[in-house]
Amino acid sequence: MKTAMITGASRGIGLAIAARLQQDGCNVAILDLAEESAAEANMNAAGLEKQRRLYLRGDVTRQDCRDAFLQQTVERFGEVNILVNNAGVAPRVRADLLDMSEESFDFVLGVNVKGNLGMSQTVARHMLARPLTGRRRGVIVNVSSCSAYATSTNRGEYCVSKAGVSMLTQLFADRLAEEGVNVFEVRPGIIATDMTAGVKEKYDDLILNKGILPIRRWGTPEDVAGAVSLLCDERLCYCTGDVLNVDGGFHIQRL
Ligand SMILES: NC(=O)c1ccc[n+]([C@@H]2O[C@H](COP(=O)([O-])OP(=O)(O)OC[C@H]3O[C@@H](n4cnc5c(N)ncnc54)[C@H](O)[C@@H]3O)[C@@H](O)[C@H]2O)c1
Repeated sequence: MKTAMITGASRGIGLAIAARLQQDGCNVAILDLAEESAAEANMNAAGLEKQRRLYLRGDVTRQDCRDAFLQQTVERFGEVNILVNNAGVAPRVRADLLDMSEESFDFVLGVNVKGNLGMSQTVARHMLARPLTGRRRGVIVNVSSCSAYATSTNRGEYCVSKAGVSMLTQLFADRLAEEGVNVFEVRPGIIATDMTAGVKEKYDDLILNKGILPIRRWGTPEDVAGAVSLLCDERLCYCTGDVLNVDGGFHIQRL
């Protein structure tokens, strides 16, 4: 049985990914900042089986948390086959690019880029310490965003961070290609979660009235989870560094 480590999975997209990968037959281990009681309630509601899940409350920006996450996962399930770098934050305040604070830049880049980098380093070292049998040692999936290429001048630090996640995907895909670890990027568009709850009216208008998305509906966490599940399939073992847009066609340039 395979084991997947997923960051930021106490709710939203990460939780849906954890549920999907468990349905695919994986044990799942989750690292998240959320209180254990809240996370447990969400995991139960999502149908995550207790016997095949582990929850650790911790911060992806801290190396001691990343190490503890790996150690506890290996102690419980034996080895790690899949890492999904999903934890991410938007700026606490949307400020114009000219007013973006250094603190906000550090906060967003810290979670979205440094946390992603540190998790990939930590888990890749573990994967490489095991012998390669077959074609694949493991898979790393990074959850970026359409903001990796689409500008929002009132949350520039988020856009910069997601462009950084795209480059991390390319870097790790290149470095780990010969080691049997495939690295992919999932690029969600506009997905209905707590992260977008505060801007629901704005996106309702853009999606339903203005037709900003070729597929005229909000994305769901399950839409993203399905894409992650596909990328973890061994049939993609000759692919690495690819981007899968999960955005209702938002990335298509239209006239
Ligand atoms: N919702 C969208 O429209 C959308 C679109 C594109 C990309 N994304 C990306 O998808 C990912 C998940 O987003 P979501 O919409 O589910 O957001 P969310 O806010 O609902 O969930 C994010 C989770 O990450 C956790 N987290 C935050 N900081 C953390 C840290 N330092 N250490 C550990 N866990 C931490 C939070 O506690 C939360 O459970 C993020 O990377 C986000 O940038 C979301």
